[in-house]
Amino acid sequence: MTDRKKVTLPSLMRKMADGSPITMITCYDYAMADLVEKAGIDIVLVGDSLGMTMLGYAGTLPVTMDDMIRHTQGVRRGSPMSWLIGDMPYMSYQPSVESAIRNAGRFMAETGCDAVKLEGGAEMADRMAGITRAGIPVMGHLGLTPQSVSALGGFRVQGKDAAHARKIVDDARALEEAGAFSILLEMVPDRVCALITERSSIPIISLGSGPQAHGQLLIFHDMFGLYPRFKPKMAKVFGNAGEVILNGLKQYVAEVTGRQFPQPEHWFGIDDGQMDELKRSLGE
Ligand code: KIV
Repeated sequence: MTDRKKVTLPSLMRKMADGSPITMITCYDYAMADLVEKAGIDIVLVGDSLGMTMLGYAGTLPVTMDDMIRHTQGVRRGSPMSWLIGDMPYMSYQPSVESAIRNAGRFMAETGCDAVKLEGGAEMADRMAGITRAGIPVMGHLGLTPQSVSALGGFRVQGKDAAHARKIVDDARALEEAGAFSILLEMVPDRVCALITERSSIPIISLGSGPQAHGQLLIFHDMFGLYPRFKPKMAKVFGNAGEVILNGLKQYVAEVTGRQFPQPEHWFGIDDGQMDELKRSLGE
């Protein structure tokens, strides 16, 4: 447990108003959440990127509501004070406003999260408005939206030409009007992100979209060398935990095969008298 105060929507809005950068990270299980909590990170996203980072899928589309609920429950237990967001997985909100409200409600009731996130612009404004009307805070997600990666032509920067950038600006406005409490901009050019940030009355969070947003997001596994397939340009490695763990595992293999592990401090004993009695009972 830490002595931090619970992060709330008003405390996030105060940070934005004060010009104090908001910190956000993805997180997928209890042990990671405990560290994130101790570091005092404001917003924790249980992203459907867990399909890639935790489950080894090539993308996020196979992730289910049940996957998301299970992981979000673990993260909530490890990080009770952060503002916790559950990421709505593929096809949990796209089919209808009703499916969006029902699944957002499942997240809130079954995990104790504080909010949900969904991907998409003006075309998702009715889902956003429906969830908001149900009393559930929703974050929008524009730019590179991994659930639409096929339609977007791959994992690439979005809004590099004026027309596409204008669409992202308009989408941000539509989401804000629909009631989003915040918008994440993923892989949008820095000056487009700055322009949206200037015009926004809700916090804009950047993932690879430059320094002028109200806050920054990174993916946990990218920050610590834990994702073996690739490292995106926008990810700064803050420590190579992957290397530390791999070296530890190699040493473990060497010590077990070399009979250096375990040592007496790593096992449990029994009194001589009790051992004698056991052997006697076995006729030895
Ligand atoms: O699933 C996720 O982690 C996300 C981030 C890429 C923003 O949605």
